Amino acid sequence: MLRALLLENVHPAAVEILRDAGIEVETRSGALDEAELIETLADFQILGIRSKTQVTRHVLESVPGLLAVGTFSIGTNQIDLDAASSHGVAVFNAPFSNTRSVVELAVAEIIALTRRLAVRDKALHDGVWDKTAEGSHEVRGRTLGIIGYGNIGSQLSVLAENLGMNVVFYDTAEKLALGNARRVETLGELLEVADAVTIHVDGRAGNAGMFTSDMFARMKPGSIFLNLSRGFVVDVESLREHILSGHLSGAAVDVFPTEPKKRGDHFESPLRGLDNVILTPHVGGSTLEAQESIGHFVAKKLRDYFLTASTTLSVNLPNLQLEHTGVGRIALLHRNVPGVLAAVNQVFADHGANIEAQMLATRGDLGYVVTDISDVTQRGASKKLMAMDTTVRLRIRDAFERPEFPPGPAAG
Ligand SMILES: NC(=O)c1ccc[n+]([C@@H]2O[C@H](COP(=O)([O-])OP(=O)(O)OC[C@H]3O[C@@H](n4cnc5c(N)ncnc54)[C@H](O)[C@@H]3O)[C@@H](O)[C@H]2O)c1
Repeated sequence: MLRALLLENVHPAAVEILRDAGIEVETRSGALDEAELIETLADFQILGIRSKTQVTRHVLESVPGLLAVGTFSIGTNQIDLDAASSHGVAVFNAPFSNTRSVVELAVAEIIALTRRLAVRDKALHDGVWDKTAEGSHEVRGRTLGIIGYGNIGSQLSVLAENLGMNVVFYDTAEKLALGNARRVETLGELLEVADAVTIHVDGRAGNAGMFTSDMFARMKPGSIFLNLSRGFVVDVESLREHILSGHLSGAAVDVFPTEPKKRGDHFESPLRGLDNVILTPHVGGSTLEAQESIGHFVAKKLRDYFLTASTTLSVNLPNLQLEHTGVGRIALLHRNVPGVLAAVNQVFADHGANIEAQMLATRGDLGYVVTDISDVTQRGASKKLMAMDTTVRLRIRDAFERPEFPPGPAAG
């Protein structure tokens, strides 16, 4: 029987989905370190983690039976993806499941900063009745500048327009402008027109230190700044200076260059204690709705990988969307070099196998060919496929040699 180890309090919805698929599930509330992970994983084929567990090259090399890792988060930095690919370990994440949560926090913060809510709230808690309209504005009619118009940036664009804001965005990739949002060609152009600047770029290495002191200086006097993307994208010392000088009227920051490891740990930042600066502990995507949605999304991807060999939205393997067909299926992950498909089909021909369907996808160094054949109990054929020096991983449903590709309930 297949076994899945789910760490870090993965949502119970995921446990249910995997169990319903016939997979035995063990859960643990905390993360495991490298040595513990290697020792524990020996008995498991599926690993589910969130952001704290590091799946290193050493882990992947030490646990040959591991077939898939589901990261119940957006990011995959905690997994050595190159090592996962070269060992034929499929990695799945949840790229969109908390998008809405991040967007709602950004909307709340844009309004809160524009009304100086943090300042009013603090004064009243300190016993001061600071009733004034000074520095407070409606967001209606103001301009929001979105840097990074991906899943989050584009959804924020829609909600901001519904609040009556004008939206401009800057993205290095070609993106469809939603609603009345206007694309600008340069970051400088955005900074000069926006009353609120919000960053939603991804965490690629090239974005480290991307938002510099010069960029803060180019922002409109009195404008506000938000970062809910990655901490290392922004020069926080410069942000502090521009708040203290009054050039910026406020900021909301959810992500930091160094973040404490666990809940309750001490937090240090140059941004602490500044007026009209909202600091949140990387909770942009942390809602109960998002957790449940992530649990569903990743567990279904893992389940489908085992039941149908489908790799849809895998972050490292070639993507093939596959359905149940009821016939036997041979899923071969191989090095992406010329001639593999011909060699594979020659093996099938030599064994008189009648191919009912075949699909191929490639991605970087890997190829993935999935072949449906009624009679997959051809011992010789699978041995030959395994013996090919291009083979990374072979899974055969209804075969006796490699049980990790079990017949699912619907597979017949
Ligand atoms: N605060 C949280 O809790 C939380 C939760 C979820 C996601 N995030 C972070 O939010 C960010 C956005 O997530 P997403 O799902 O929208 O990502 P995404 O990949 O869908 O979108 C990122 C966009 O940024 C663009 N981009 C990258 N570098 C750029 C640059 N230098 N200048 C302009 N555009 C650039 C890309 O072309 C892409 O369109 C990520 O960094 C993610 O890690 C944070």
